[in-house]
Amino acid sequence: MNTHPPQYAIIFAWLLMLNIVGTCSSNIHCNQKDKHALLNFKQGVIDPSGMLSSWSNEQDCCQWKGVMCNNITSRVTKLSLPCYTTLPTYTDKVDKSHCLTGSIHLSLVEFEFLNYLNLSNNDFLAIHFDPVDSQTCHNISADTISRQCVNSSVLAYFDLSLNTNLIIDSLEWLSRISSLEYLDLSAIDLYREVNWLQSVTMLPSLSYLNMRGCQVEDLSPSLQYANFTTLRVLDLSENKFESELPKWLFNLSSGITDVHLGSNSLRGQLPKALLNLRHLESLTLEHNKLNGPIPDWLGQFELLQVLNLQDNMFSGSIPTNLGNLSSLITLVVDRNQLTGVVSERNFAKLSKLKVLMMEISPPLIFDFDSHWVPPFQLGQLCFAFAGPNLPTWFYTQTSIEFLCITYSSFQVEDKFHKFVSRRMTLLMLEWNSIDGDMSEVLLNSTFIMISSNDLKGGLPRLSSNVNFAKLSNNSLSGSISSLLCDHKMLSGKSNLKFLDISHNNLSGGLTNCWKNWRTLIHINLGSNNLTGQIPPSMGLLHNLTTLHLHQNKLYGEIPQSLQNCYSLLIFNVRENNISGNIPTWIAPSAVAIQLRSNQFSGNIPEQICQMPSLIIFDFADNNISGHIPNCLHHMTSFVINNASISKLSFYIYLGDMYYRFEDSLELVTKGQVSQNSRNLHFMTLIDLSSNELSGSIPPQMFNLVGLHSLNLSFNKLVGRIPGEIGNMKNLESLDVSRNQLFGEIPEIMSKLTFLEYLNVSFNNFRGRIPSGTQLGGFNASSYMGNPGLCGPPLTKYCPQDTKSEDVKPYSEDNDGSHFLSWFYIGLASGFVTGFWGVCGAVFFNRKWRHAYFTFIYDLRDRFYVMIVTKRNLFPSSNKFLLWQ
Ligand SMILES: *[C@@H]1O[C@H](CO)[C@@H](O)[C@H](O)[C@H]1NC(C)=O
Ligand SMILES: *[C@@H]1O[C@H](CO)[C@@H](O)[C@H](O)[C@H]1NC(C)=O
Ligand SMILES: *[C@@H]1O[C@H](CO)[C@@H](O)[C@H](O)[C@H]1NC(C)=O
Ligand SMILES: *[C@@H]1O[C@H](CO)[C@@H](O)[C@H](O)[C@H]1NC(C)=O
Ligand SMILES: *[C@@H]1O[C@H](CO)[C@@H](O)[C@H](O)[C@H]1NC(C)=O
Ligand SMILES: *[C@@H]1O[C@H](CO)[C@@H](O)[C@H](O)[C@H]1NC(C)=O
Ligand SMILES: *[C@@H]1O[C@H](CO)[C@@H](O)[C@H](O)[C@H]1NC(C)=O
Ligand SMILES: *[C@@H]1O[C@H](CO)[C@@H](O)[C@H](O)[C@H]1NC(C)=O
Ligand SMILES: *[C@@H]1O[C@H](CO)[C@@H](O)[C@H](O)[C@H]1NC(C)=O
Ligand SMILES: *[C@@H]1O[C@H](CO)[C@@H](O)[C@H](O)[C@H]1NC(C)=O
Repeated sequence: MNTHPPQYAIIFAWLLMLNIVGTCSSNIHCNQKDKHALLNFKQGVIDPSGMLSSWSNEQDCCQWKGVMCNNITSRVTKLSLPCYTTLPTYTDKVDKSHCLTGSIHLSLVEFEFLNYLNLSNNDFLAIHFDPVDSQTCHNISADTISRQCVNSSVLAYFDLSLNTNLIIDSLEWLSRISSLEYLDLSAIDLYREVNWLQSVTMLPSLSYLNMRGCQVEDLSPSLQYANFTTLRVLDLSENKFESELPKWLFNLSSGITDVHLGSNSLRGQLPKALLNLRHLESLTLEHNKLNGPIPDWLGQFELLQVLNLQDNMFSGSIPTNLGNLSSLITLVVDRNQLTGVVSERNFAKLSKLKVLMMEISPPLIFDFDSHWVPPFQLGQLCFAFAGPNLPTWFYTQTSIEFLCITYSSFQVEDKFHKFVSRRMTLLMLEWNSIDGDMSEVLLNSTFIMISSNDLKGGLPRLSSNVNFAKLSNNSLSGSISSLLCDHKMLSGKSNLKFLDISHNNLSGGLTNCWKNWRTLIHINLGSNNLTGQIPPSMGLLHNLTTLHLHQNKLYGEIPQSLQNCYSLLIFNVRENNISGNIPTWIAPSAVAIQLRSNQFSGNIPEQICQMPSLIIFDFADNNISGHIPNCLHHMTSFVINNASISKLSFYIYLGDMYYRFEDSLELVTKGQVSQNSRNLHFMTLIDLSSNELSGSIPPQMFNLVGLHSLNLSFNKLVGRIPGEIGNMKNLESLDVSRNQLFGEIPEIMSKLTFLEYLNVSFNNFRGRIPSGTQLGGFNASSYMGNPGLCGPPLTKYCPQDTKSEDVKPYSEDNDGSHFLSWFYIGLASGFVTGFWGVCGAVFFNRKWRHAYFTFIYDLRDRFYVMIVTKRNLFPSSNKFLLWQ
């Protein structure tokens, strides 16, 4: 004890000091002018979570949350009110309901000493610069806004980023904040501000400018000089620039270190003038349309650490001069049209390299000296190469955490098996033709993706490190028990969350070993040759959200124990031989139930109506009888116009990386099989076709305003289509063919403007097909088999019509329609098989500067990647979730 008195003394003295400081600061009295400005700010704010509850008269304003005063002058110097949000698990929308919204009322004239202002990631809708009394200051789109409204020579840090609903028409006022050094406007909508560049270049001290994702279009490509004399970091990624690289860029102060122009549509070649930016450390130009060769002079950037040229149209070979970039940490050249040979000369001096991504299709030719020992130890390596053997240096890279080899055909040696059995964060070997027998291999990486190869033999083992295993689309055979029931390897508990072994030749039963795998949230065993019953032990998977068992030979009833899968969102047993009643206990939160093409019998249970989130309700092609329950209008997601239906994606987090998975189901709509997961984002569907349903269609069904696709065909339904069908404003596909419906086709159906597919054939409808509308635009086969129907497009004239000229007889060749649906009518019957699993994978890794990691499988997935990279930035923005 006696040996430590000095330390105690220090702590004691420190406490004393704190106390003094505390006393001191409570003596600070907030300046009335500042307080006035703060209260003015608060007045415009809507504060749902009481973030500003401490902003009251009882407390000195220097004690208010987010406010900081200078301890000598007592003037407010800092206002920091960012909002903190977390990434959601099952939705695309970040919850910002607790963040500040309303308008930003900023009296910079009163805040004479404000140096730092951070309102990042809130949900503000407008900004006003106003001394309260001056009306002229309210309109920031007016160029006439005077210096008395915005005038600050002290504000240096200004962060308005990620207020994704904030639209600013003009940035002209910015030039009045002459002291600005750091400006972050990312994800604010500046679409209408065409003069943004002029405004920001007027800031003489600006060193950091972030205008990522601001929707701006004009990069002023021919402007010679931009007056950014002190700029260090320029981020203009994710905008809408379509020009060449602008001339002013090459005339920037040579002190600039970071230039980010990724995710635009920039064209042209890289001009040599870029070399003026001598101090560049990071140049990211990914996802553009830049072309020409990768210039060899890029090798002259001595300080360059990050070079990202991913996804452009660069051609030619990778210049060996890049091997001079001795500071380089990250080199990303994949997804270009590069050709030629890669050898050790390309990497000669890259001793700091950590990230190398060169997946190029068709793959580059590797010509490495077999004795070459690289000067680097990579952490992340992705490549495609033209075989047949992996270069020997590959095996020296023992620190790899992310490995991806794709589109390559190479011979798998024993040492490769050993290499991939090491623990890595990610092992991705998709779309190769790896054809070994994996049954003796133990995989030990966290994320494993070896789908779409020629793997044969039994399933490999998974260690307890594995979180994610995707082995789909191979030729694996044998029983799944070799993977599931051999828990010697698990040394305790499994961490497996995602298992996809669909599209193989696996046989045998589903085993009863699920109790060892309770961490699973996603299982896909579809399109195999599995048989037997669904085992009760699957009910132990309480966190399971997705169960795909489609296209197997499963039979028997669904075990009651599955009711313990409380988290189930997607239940898909399409195309098996499962019988018994429709389960009544499926988790009420379920989003999609697909029982199509089985032997289910009995009635549709009314419990279905208590599933407010259901968007896919596919019971087609079974032996279901009885009436359609008349409570369907309780199913909220079908009733709400524009229900939020993006729940079928989820994230798996892993340290500083996350994986986003998009699920998909094969659905039949508009007379065809839809083949991608888009349907799960934009489709609400009820399909009860090909059953034994009788009675009439309950009238409530026609109030399902949110429904996109309704198929009741091939049943024994009777009755009329009531006028209420006019309520179904979102209906895109309606099929009631092959029933015994009667009456007229309601005129009001012509108001269903989204209707692309209609089939009322083979019923007993009568009367005139409403004319002069969309309904007349459908093919005659939409209406055939109704002896009482008349008028175009049928050739039968209605009795009251004389043979007038405007009745245009239908003919097969008369394909004047712009409705795509015409082409699909022939396909309308039958249920085409095949599973179209689409899995959008995105990895994000912040470990190495800018070394984010995206895998883009095909055009479809590109959207997923875009969504994610954008949603990182734009956590609550929906405007990027468009699919084309
Ligand atoms: C005032 O604050 C600064 C930091 O903001 C600190 O370094 C300084 O010691 C403080 N002065 C007093 C008298 O507390
Ligand atoms: C504003 O706050 C956010 C959240 O704490 C932070 O990430 C950001 O860097 C801050 N901006 C500035 C300019 O300090
Ligand atoms: C803002 O300015 C625009 C154009 O100068 C004008 O049309 C608009 O009425 C003004 N709005 C207000 C609230 O003054
Ligand atoms: C702007 O503010 C400075 C002090 O910060 C003051 O000297 C100047 O007169 C102001 N300019 C105008 C036009 O109000
Ligand atoms: C450059 O900035 C300075 C200081 O803001 C300004 O006086 C000058 O007019 C600007 N020049 C150009 C060409 O924009
Ligand atoms: C840089 O700007 C000057 C004018 O200030 C101009 O004469 C020159 O051509 C510009 N250089 C480039 C490379 O655009
Ligand atoms: C850069 O690399 C090229 C080819 O690899 C070489 O000829 C050249 O001398 C190197 N330049 C410097 C400055 O190292
Ligand atoms: C899996 O990796 C861990 C290190 O992360 C290691 O301790 C363990 O021995 C490995 N397991 C096998 C079976 O190789
Ligand atoms: C199930 O999920 C919860 C919440 O995410 C988690 O705390 C729990 O550990 C999970 N259970 C298993 C067995 O993984
Ligand atoms: C499926 O399994 C059965 C035995 O259960 C076998 O006879 C049949 O050949 C298998 N089919 C395929 C395509 O592997």
